[in-house]
Amino acid sequence: MSASFTHEDVPEIDAAAAHLTAYVSELLASRRAAPRSDFLTSYVVAVEQEDNLSPIETLIQIVTVIVGGSDTTRTAMTMQAALLLQHRDQWDAVCQDTALIPGAVSEALRYEPSVGSIPRFTCQDIEVGGYVVPRDRILSLSTLSAMRDPALYAEPDSFNIRRTDHPRRHLVFGAGVHRCLGEVLARAELEEGLAALVERLPQLRVAGPPPTMFGHAGIRRVDAMRVSWPR
Ligand code: HEM
Repeated sequence: MSASFTHEDVPEIDAAAAHLTAYVSELLASRRAAPRSDFLTSYVVAVEQEDNLSPIETLIQIVTVIVGGSDTTRTAMTMQAALLLQHRDQWDAVCQDTALIPGAVSEALRYEPSVGSIPRFTCQDIEVGGYVVPRDRILSLSTLSAMRDPALYAEPDSFNIRRTDHPRRHLVFGAGVHRCLGEVLARAELEEGLAALVERLPQLRVAGPPPTMFGHAGIRRVDAMRVSWPR
């Protein structure tokens, strides 16, 4: 496994980040200049009234919603179809019974998650399992590893859409005060997307090699998946 991005990707990432932040800056400025009845206008008004965010924080909140709300679900959407199509009996079961869709979404998010780890800075020494993690370090808390923990999941390396041992709060969405704000939306998108696919294309197949998920740091990447179906 590798980090999600390589050194060579950095210039492209920097350029994309500059482009996105400029776009969001313009959007926020346009709402300040000409308020509308939309979310961004309410956000701009609330930020001004509360007066507790710096200009960069004001910007990054919106950038985070855009990045955290698109790459994650897009990658998960591809991977859940790929996993089900590679476990044909489970794909066929979902086609027969759409009540299995929520379990299929949860299991795909566990088995091949679109977020591989969550970063944290240590503010103090922390003792874990007999080791001390010193303060002022960056920690990478692995969702990949947590979601294959045999203490939590029976046969963690099996893909099983009928499993009943998912924790009430799915680990792929993190934990604590920064737990994902968009879980309900993400689940709705993934469930509706899968429902549309199984209804319209039950004969769908992966054509060629199945896609690979890359990286373990933060949001992961998936490569292309080619599919075919009889016409
Ligand atoms: C499969 C889809 C998704 C996954 C796996 C996912 C995962 C996560 C995780 C693990 C965190 C916690 C990060 C941390 O603690 O440092 C997080 C935070 C967040 N997510 Fe998601 N997410 C998904 C979809 C979405 C969607 C659709 C939205 C909104 C449109 C969204 C918005 C956010 C925001 C705003 C935060 C930051 C919350 C905070 O810092 O208080 N996410 N997400």
